[in-house]
Amino acid sequence: MTETDNRNGPTRRTVLEGGVATGVLLATGLPVYAEPAGAVAAAAPPTPAPTKPMSLRINAKDFAVELDPRTTLLDALRNHLGLTGSKKGCHHGQCGACTVLVDGRRINSCLTLAVMHQGDEITTIEGLAEGDRLHPVQAAFVARDGFQCGYCTPGQICSAVGMLDEARAGWPSHASADVAAASVALTDAEIRERMSGNICRCAAYPNIVAAIRDAAEGA
Ligand code: FES
Ligand code: FES
Repeated sequence: MTETDNRNGPTRRTVLEGGVATGVLLATGLPVYAEPAGAVAAAAPPTPAPTKPMSLRINAKDFAVELDPRTTLLDALRNHLGLTGSKKGCHHGQCGACTVLVDGRRINSCLTLAVMHQGDEITTIEGLAEGDRLHPVQAAFVARDGFQCGYCTPGQICSAVGMLDEARAGWPSHASADVAAASVALTDAEIRERMSGNICRCAAYPNIVAAIRDAAEGA
């Protein structure tokens, strides 16, 4: 029998070749492709990300760094400056573990880029104490046992410091009965609402609220 079938039907060779390819496919799950020798292209080496010199002021010290402009403030702190007090929980703005203060206001450092904060005054948990003297909010957390594993605690404390300043400035929250009032009474409901962006998986919430109440009353 010849390979050419004048009636346009499959030849015995094409049937056999098809059978071999089908067998390979069934045995390996991989399709068989005909590749000319040497046709597999070498993978291109990864191109290094371009970096940019940046100047950041953190905890009253100036830092000069050269970073990929896409670096988040959180990654700059933790991975490039050795300030690992700020924690990475979700990296999506949902847990508050990465909270730091920028010009006195609390932000999620995972949701902002380091390059955007040149010239800002950044304060992390490492910058709150004065020498051996704890910040009053830190001392209150210790006194009230406001943590268990402690992973969320730096973010909770930075958030509490920012929140107390917001309340002192008379900023209302969703829990405020009178949003036009000049001053805010820091009830437990106010504290819970204002701290609602900081999640504690250990559920140390009652002690966290008590610590912030103590710090507010002592301020
Ligand atoms: S790590 Fe930034 S909010 Fe969770
Ligand atoms: S103390 Fe463990 S997550 Fe808050």
